[in-house]
Amino acid sequence: MTQLAARRLRRLVLVVAVVLFGGGCTAGAIAWNPPIRPIAAPAPASFPAATVAQGATLAAIGDCAVCHTAAHGAPFAGGRPIPTPFGTIYATNITPDPTTGIGHWSLAAFRRALRHGIDRRGEHLYPALPYTHFTHATDADIAALYAFLMTRRPVHAVAPANRLPFPLDWRPLLAGWNLLYLHPGVWRPDPAQSAEWNRGAYLVQALGHCGACHTPRNGLGAEETGQALAGGKAEGWYAPPLQAGSPAPHKWTVAELTTYLRTGVDRAHGAAAGPMRQVTDELATVPAADLHAIAVYIATLMPPAPPTVPPRPAPVADSSATAIFAGACGACHAADAPMTRDGAPSLARSTAVNATTPRNVIAIILHGLPWRDGHAGPYMPGFADALTNAQVAAIAAYVRAHYTDRPPWPHLPAAVRAARHDQALHAASRSQAMRAASRDPAVRAASRDQIVRAASRDGDRT
Ligand code: HEC
Ligand code: HEC
Ligand code: HEC
Repeated sequence: MTQLAARRLRRLVLVVAVVLFGGGCTAGAIAWNPPIRPIAAPAPASFPAATVAQGATLAAIGDCAVCHTAAHGAPFAGGRPIPTPFGTIYATNITPDPTTGIGHWSLAAFRRALRHGIDRRGEHLYPALPYTHFTHATDADIAALYAFLMTRRPVHAVAPANRLPFPLDWRPLLAGWNLLYLHPGVWRPDPAQSAEWNRGAYLVQALGHCGACHTPRNGLGAEETGQALAGGKAEGWYAPPLQAGSPAPHKWTVAELTTYLRTGVDRAHGAAAGPMRQVTDELATVPAADLHAIAVYIATLMPPAPPTVPPRPAPVADSSATAIFAGACGACHAADAPMTRDGAPSLARSTAVNATTPRNVIAIILHGLPWRDGHAGPYMPGFADALTNAQVAAIAAYVRAHYTDRPPWPHLPAAVRAARHDQALHAASRSQAMRAASRDPAVRAASRDQIVRAASRDGDRT
């Protein structure tokens, strides 16, 4: 971390501490929450199959597996680091393992966690779990999620300890945060809108928690009220506005949004490359009616007309950038490349290329779109090791100038350095999580268990 970043972080921590402590004191009376009595893990057969299936859909819309599964880990067994500006928080084990998961949790305890961010023992949970959104989920949906999770295979696994600076590691402070930013309450449909629009709005605002990434956050990590879906940050990427501020050069239609959400790529716009890719992988399993409802809702928020018509490619003066683009990118992205002739969208149509920030273009150049086992989808190589920072900055400037008529991005070299730095941080937190996990005897025993169980194929309840 640079000195400046360290100083900023310290100042932020101090402000957070003071504000939260003030809030925490006034919230003293509500800071204590009683533990909810443990129950014997319910028998999987006690849940109706239709409820479990409904829960599977809702879990996909809520990305439960995305956060609660570590790299190469068992589904829902936790251990994935969630980076936040305040430190790293590890998603916990939500399989029905009685000692390390939620096997002893009653439906009431589970509902309190999703609605109020309080665990079974009465401890506050960090809002890295998007309970400010989940709080609006209906009783029936929460019960279906519970049925789904309680019928998964129990996995014995302990998440590594969170890495948060004092005093943010003191959970009671969150009582103050909740007082300011948690607004529980039943989700209310808008009677002026269609049933489908309302279904989409509910899914987006409650379980889908789209705003967790697409809404900007304030200094205390809470989503800015009044700026819903106006563009935010996610794991070093820019989650573009999904409302009037959308920089998409071609207006998103309901059909295009549905295709993008289901497949991660739409021919009129482009592909999900960053954190959105995991979201669309999950949505791929969701019934078409729900995706269509989400698309109907999002489409009504988008600007009525495209902010600009995609311009015709313009010649760019920087001849070295032109040469690097032709060599590194042209085989796929040039107008006469097979991929483009095959119907892949021109970069002129890309939201990333038209956005106010170069963040996603830089991230795509560095990381590409990796192959992933078991998922079909577009592939692009990453250039992190092949190109210098100056070359990445030059290509980003070239793409912006060649494919749009928008103003050049300022401070590109600094943005590339920042992106490399983010990348290093994420890699470090991932490998730290793995080291911590391999040191933890419970986790070592759990992975041994998993191997034994996989070998014998016994006790598999999913
Ligand atoms: C953006 C990441 C993220 C998503 C998405 C997410 N969670 Fe979590 N969840 C977390 C983190 C991080 C924690 C641990 C918080 C803490 O330690 O305070 C957590 C904790 C929990 C807990 C408390 C477990 C315990 O042992 O205390 C439950 C229950 C839970 N999540 C259920 C869900 C369900 C159900 C979904 C999907 C509908 C979901 N989560 C989606 C990040 C996430
Ligand atoms: C092997 C083929 C290949 C190469 C080489 C390649 N790309 Fe890509 N690129 C793709 C594919 C496939 C996609 C995703 C599908 C799409 O958007 O058409 C993509 C997407 C992108 C996007 C995002 C567009 C969107 O969806 O918003 C950008 C920006 C981009 N590439 C820039 C570059 C640059 C700059 C280079 C050279 C440094 C490069 N690509 C090299 C195949 C390639
Ligand atoms: C984990 C963070 C995260 C969540 C949750 C998330 N998104 Fe995204 N989304 C992104 C990011 C980052 C991008 C752009 C870069 C990328 O990943 O390809 C994006 C891109 C998009 C785009 C393309 C916009 C454009 O103009 O190119 C749409 C549409 C979208 N998201 C819709 C949604 C909807 C609807 C939800 C909720 C169901 C959602 N997102 C949830 C992070 C997220």
